[in-house]
Amino acid sequence: MSRDLAELRTLWYMGAKTRLCEEFLDGAVRDLLDPGQTLLDACAGTAAVSRWFAPTYRILSNDVQHFSSIVASAHLEGDESWRNYLDQLDHLQDLGSATEENAQWLTNLAPRALDLEDSLLDQVLKEGSGNASDSGAMERYRSFVAQAPIPHDASGISSDEDDGGVHQPLASRLEHLLDQRRKSSGGSPAMLCTAYWSHVYFGLRQSIRIDSIRHAIEAIPSSDPFRERKRAIYLAALLHAVSVSTSGTSHFAQPRSIARDPELVAVAKRRIIDIDQQFELALEAILREWSHHPRLAGNRVFCSDVQRLLAPGSPLDDEEVDLVYLDPPYTADNYSRFYHVLETLVAYDYPELESRGGSLTKGRYPKQEIRYRSDFCSSVRVEEAFRGVAQACKDRSSRLLISYSTDTGLLTGRWAKQGEQNPARKFRELLLEYFGQVEIREKLLMHSGQGDSNRSVRELLLLCEE
Ligand SMILES: C[S@@+](CC[C@H](N)C(=O)[O-])C[C@H]1O[C@@H](n2cnc3c(N)ncnc32)[C@H](O)[C@@H]1O
Repeated sequence: MSRDLAELRTLWYMGAKTRLCEEFLDGAVRDLLDPGQTLLDACAGTAAVSRWFAPTYRILSNDVQHFSSIVASAHLEGDESWRNYLDQLDHLQDLGSATEENAQWLTNLAPRALDLEDSLLDQVLKEGSGNASDSGAMERYRSFVAQAPIPHDASGISSDEDDGGVHQPLASRLEHLLDQRRKSSGGSPAMLCTAYWSHVYFGLRQSIRIDSIRHAIEAIPSSDPFRERKRAIYLAALLHAVSVSTSGTSHFAQPRSIARDPELVAVAKRRIIDIDQQFELALEAILREWSHHPRLAGNRVFCSDVQRLLAPGSPLDDEEVDLVYLDPPYTADNYSRFYHVLETLVAYDYPELESRGGSLTKGRYPKQEIRYRSDFCSSVRVEEAFRGVAQACKDRSSRLLISYSTDTGLLTGRWAKQGEQNPARKFRELLLEYFGQVEIREKLLMHSGQGDSNRSVRELLLLCEE
């Protein structure tokens, strides 16, 4: 199988297997599964693996994060009537007027800030490329951002309606509006992104467009027979637009600092990205994939902890699962922290944000207790988590394919630190307690990370059969 990898482009996501589908996973899955059989992509993330195999196998796709299951659903689920309808899908008709109505509402809350942002970003980029007639735009932009209102901030920066602050009247009304939204999250104006993350992960104009498209998606009438399908496909396109437009890096664990000039220029380049255009490009890409790579019938998407999904009594009980593909987190970093913006945008429930010492954290995360913590990210629970999945696959007579890192995985790394010379072999021995045959395949990958460019790591596959 060979496909243009650009077509598979998806969310910016740590550990996405986009590149590895063709080079590494394809052969292993084909060795374990006949065409037409059922593959459960148990920790689907961007759904890159589900999508790669969807033309050949029936796909069940799962992830504990809601945003991930939305992306998978947009790409995989839909009966014949939906597939026939896709040619007529008209996002402007479905979303246009509700988007503009919300955008107008938010624009009226910060008209001067929007104008100033446009002009400062332009000047910052000129200054960064040495084409500015006057210098100082970078400092003016920093000061503009520093004065922006902060949700639930006791110090109440720019809170006086008459002080002429450029962020008025938003600054004065923010707390009141947020209190209202918490009581009725569906009310207008929809402003979660604007309130929580403008000048943090996005520009103000970008935040207004994100909120407004999100609002319009929820406003698709329940009388529309394709409401749920449209909601999934538009949300997936919006998630993609948000993911490629963040002024941070490929995740949302921390916003990028604008203290240094080169970083500010990089942020400014991101903040002029047009959200609507990215949304349309992502939507076109999803539609193209549906038309170029037809899916087999009967795909289903779940949003569950994998151990719960595989346990008796789950919706999987009416399914025959031939192969479970398990690609869990490799490290102690929880995806719910790194991708909290995507998860919160889907829930759109104005969660309480985490604070430390009375101030919001830089990352503007929801409170820790409402973020999912994975057993695969816990050094004390990771081994039991793998054992639980292996036992459940055995009980269901499913084959199991695991992706992991030989060197940097939480479990394999711990074994290595304990003096184990061959962590991959130890992993195989653990799995042989549940399966008759376990084969190891490894591939060297070059990682170009901070400070350790071109470090090679071994990507591990474990193929488990009865
Ligand atoms: C390495 S990423 C998967 C990448 C994916 N294969 C791709 O190509 O995009 C790990 C995923 O596991 C999910 N996850 C973590 N713990 C989980 C659990 N207990 N059950 C289900 N999903 C989980 C995370 O939300 C994350 O999306």
